[in-house]
Amino acid sequence: MRKTLTAIAIAAMLAMGSFSVASSFAMQKDKDKKKSEEKEMKSDDKMKSDDKMKEGKSSKKKTLYTRLGGKKAITAVVDEFINVVGADNRINKFFADTVANPARLQALKDNLVAQICSATGGRCKYKGKDMKTSHKGMGITDADFTALVEDLVKALDKFNVPEAEKTELLTILGSLKGDIVGQ
Ligand code: HEM
Repeated sequence: MRKTLTAIAIAAMLAMGSFSVASSFAMQKDKDKKKSEEKEMKSDDKMKSDDKMKEGKSSKKKTLYTRLGGKKAITAVVDEFINVVGADNRINKFFADTVANPARLQALKDNLVAQICSATGGRCKYKGKDMKTSHKGMGITDADFTALVEDLVKALDKFNVPEAEKTELLTILGSLKGDIVGQ
């Protein structure tokens, strides 16, 4: 009888032991499954963001400055713009003194590049005069302003700047009209 009781007790202990081993094994398996699911989700997210980057659709939208091609591209557009303005009989009289003086011409170009760079999100600081001060007493009309914008469009088109970027830039510069016309 005693032997039987001992045997039952031992059998019960063994059963409990194997139950707890089995349950901790199952819990560990559960944890591993969760971990690998988390890993999969993370790599899924990474793949999605990699795809977006490849398509140029990163959630962080590129600045207009970057989309225009940065400082080098803006400098090329400004150089061409000044050439077009110089050849435009509607408004080139305004720039006669500037064109005749290479240092003054270079300063105007540098100011324009810095102004466009800074206004489009580039890391430049415009150090020139504000628009009201720099155009004071020039008597610039609506028509003069429109002619200059048309010349800028010609320069942008020469470098095949896409329609969206062109419109964005012209909108930014167009907002300065009130400080330039009729000063
Ligand atoms: C959105 C349009 C315009 C912008 C962004 C602009 C920008 C500038 C800038 C940055 C300067 C140099 C300021 C400085 O010296 O500190 C400047 C000067 C000047 N701008 Fe404009 N401007 C615009 C329209 C016009 C128009 C329509 C005219 C005439 C038709 C004009 C004629 C001049 C002249 C003659 C100077 C002086 C150049 C010199 O210093 O020799 N601008 N402008």
